[in-house]
Amino acid sequence: PSETGRVLSIQSHTVQGYVGNKSAVFPLQLLGYDVDPINSGQVLNGQQLWELIEGLEGNDLLYYTHLLTGYIGSVSFLDTVLEVVSKLRSVNPKLIYVCDPVMGDEGKLYVPQELISVYRERVVPVASMLTPNQFEAELLTGFRIQSEDDGRKACNFLHEAGPSKVVITSINIDGTLLLIGSHEKEKGKPPKQFKIVIPKIPAYFTGTGDLMTALLLGWSNKYPDNLEITAELAVSSLQALLQRTLNDYKSAGHDPRSTSLEIRLIQSQDDIRSPEITFKAEIY
Ligand code: ATP
Ligand code: PLP
Ligand code: MG
Ligand code: NA
Ligand code: MG
Repeated sequence: PSETGRVLSIQSHTVQGYVGNKSAVFPLQLLGYDVDPINSGQVLNGQQLWELIEGLEGNDLLYYTHLLTGYIGSVSFLDTVLEVVSKLRSVNPKLIYVCDPVMGDEGKLYVPQELISVYRERVVPVASMLTPNQFEAELLTGFRIQSEDDGRKACNFLHEAGPSKVVITSINIDGTLLLIGSHEKEKGKPPKQFKIVIPKIPAYFTGTGDLMTALLLGWSNKYPDNLEITAELAVSSLQALLQRTLNDYKSAGHDPRSTSLEIRLIQSQDDIRSPEITFKAEIY
């Protein structure tokens, strides 16, 4: 594996619990990255984000190997993120932008409608790696995604728009989750595609999407030419953490189906640092 880097992570923040940066920063640090979090949310608008960037620039601190973004709630903030991408690329033309285009899940949109076209037309073209879920991949492509084949076609469409790495983090087919990965190693050549089958645990977790994208960033930089291994490591870590979370809730006497489960992130640090590969990619 090659060496690690310095990540600017612009995501939401919670005081208690693990979503957004609270779900992404710790695992990236465990994997050896320096991480500079910018916490968005009620306390930060586009103007204030830009002031932070100017502050870093004034101190010659704008060199990043990676930019990671997650949930973004307004067009003005997303516009500013686009300016951050160009600014960071003017300092490091090789900057890798990992974009989780958080818009919704299971048919429900949870950002303003206007964000969809901004993601489609301006964000996707500048992203290096994209990690939509099934619903988000549908919004970005306009395709219905109901099979593996649909998922692979959506990846092809997204490569044409920009990113060389696309991971549809899950497609739900009859209660089984399928991750579809696609790596366009050379522009215009057919991408290398694979799937990972993940049995769905009968429980609802929060922060797992944010964690998944952070793990994909973390491992893809160590295996830049191998998206299959990247995804195997990320999925294996995450599933070990979900099992630990489930077991902890059960041993405390809770019914895991009655509430959404708070992930055991800190307690799973060994699974994050050195996962045992328990989920294998099947290459098409
Ligand atoms: P996804 O399309 O994967 O749902 P998302 O951004 O909506 O992406 P989550 O729903 O939080 O994020 O899921 C992220 C990942 O967490 C999934 O790819 C899967 O590996 C794992 N995951 C989440 N919930 C479950 C579950 N109930 N059972 C098994 N794995 C899960
Ligand atoms: N960020 C914010 C602001 C959220 O409201 C949520 C979900 O409730 C998340 C992140 C977490 O999303 P995920 O479970 O896909 O990681
Ligand atoms: Mg989901
Ligand atoms: Na996702
Ligand atoms: Mg998500």
